[in-house]
Amino acid sequence: MDKRYDHKAGLLLVDDEDGFRTAIAKRLTKRGFDPIQASNGEECLEIIARESIEVVVLDVKMPGISGIDTLKAIKQAYPKIQVILLTGNVAVSDGIEGIKSGAFDYLTKPVEIDHLVNKINQAYEMIRHEEEKQEQIEYRSKLEKKMIDTERLVSLGILSTGIAHEINNPLAIINESAGYMKQIISAPEMTKFSQKKALQLGIEKIEKSVKRAGKITQQLLGHVKQKESEFCEVDLKALFYETLGLLKKDLDDKQITIHWEIDKNKNVLWSDPYQIRQIIMNLLNNAVHAVKKNGVIVLSSRETDYDIIFEIKDNGMGIPKENLGKIFDPFFTTKSFDEGTGLGLFVVHKLVSDLNGEIMVDSDLNKGTCFKITLPKGFK
Ligand SMILES: Nc1ncnc2c1ncn2[C@@H]1O[C@H](COP(=O)(O)OP(=O)(O)O)[C@@H](O)[C@H]1O
Ligand SMILES: [Mg+2]
Repeated sequence: MDKRYDHKAGLLLVDDEDGFRTAIAKRLTKRGFDPIQASNGEECLEIIARESIEVVVLDVKMPGISGIDTLKAIKQAYPKIQVILLTGNVAVSDGIEGIKSGAFDYLTKPVEIDHLVNKINQAYEMIRHEEEKQEQIEYRSKLEKKMIDTERLVSLGILSTGIAHEINNPLAIINESAGYMKQIISAPEMTKFSQKKALQLGIEKIEKSVKRAGKITQQLLGHVKQKESEFCEVDLKALFYETLGLLKKDLDDKQITIHWEIDKNKNVLWSDPYQIRQIIMNLLNNAVHAVKKNGVIVLSSRETDYDIIFEIKDNGMGIPKENLGKIFDPFFTTKSFDEGTGLGLFVVHKLVSDLNGEIMVDSDLNKGTCFKITLPKGFK
């Protein structure tokens, strides 16, 4: 039986007087306990290190390590164990010192068995109570962390799309002006202008940077619905084909093989194709980037009663453990300035949760990565 629910397991009885100890042990056994016995402090500590002990009934007066020192050693190494001290009736001060050192309580000898049984039961109750408290604390902190994470992503999302909107206008103006300047500088009378080359280079840099900034705002705004999103029948396989078509050049350059593991007729859902296309695009983009020449990408889908589950799996470089917690953060990228914005997965995360789905990632360094998306089928 699971020790946790067995109220009377893990009891240790420590006393150097053999006769007294065995008599008490016998009585406790009659009342349903199964006490382990030790005749001194050292033995007691040895047993605790070996067995899973929850409650110790400990004699204070023993040769060798004293009861109080044994108690201190127990509480230091195993704070969850509850210790009931047995003291001589003239040595009340021992009991008080024991309480100060963390004992659950003390009883004076001669011990009345019912009294002892009561104390032991109370000690077990205390342990269960502490455990429940601990579990609640852990549960709450887990929940809080999850809430903080989602909240952080949501508010970052709102902020960044706001900024993206604001930046798009000046970007367009810069781009237009750069184009205008380019036009002027390529006019025939400009051939005489000695700084022409430098100016041209400058304009090219402006255009390149505008392009990158545009890529960022475009990705950030990519998940903002252009119009009220329209749900319709979405064929996943068709969307995969469409997206692969857009990536044809990269797939050809790297000679990437695509494996299909798509359940026939089990890839249709009632959802927003625009958003799902964006999800697939961003994930495929990453997979293509992650694999070496001749890499393999596996696309799979299956269904459960309520959901469609699809996976995009690559045999690429994998994601280091320390990065797994960050990949969905906006602007987290391990790619170069030209290659990455760090927004792809942030947007994917946002879209998937907007569609009431779930995303999971499983990655092995140098072996590959698998993103698993679960979306509600949406059909009744
Ligand atoms: N399939 C993958 N294999 C390996 N690493 C990946 C994969 N997908 C994402 N990553 C890691 O997550 C980071 C963030 O991805 P993403 O948000 O799409 O931004 P970006 O692709 O612009 O860097 C990438 O820079 C990369 O380090
Ligand atoms: Mg990406």
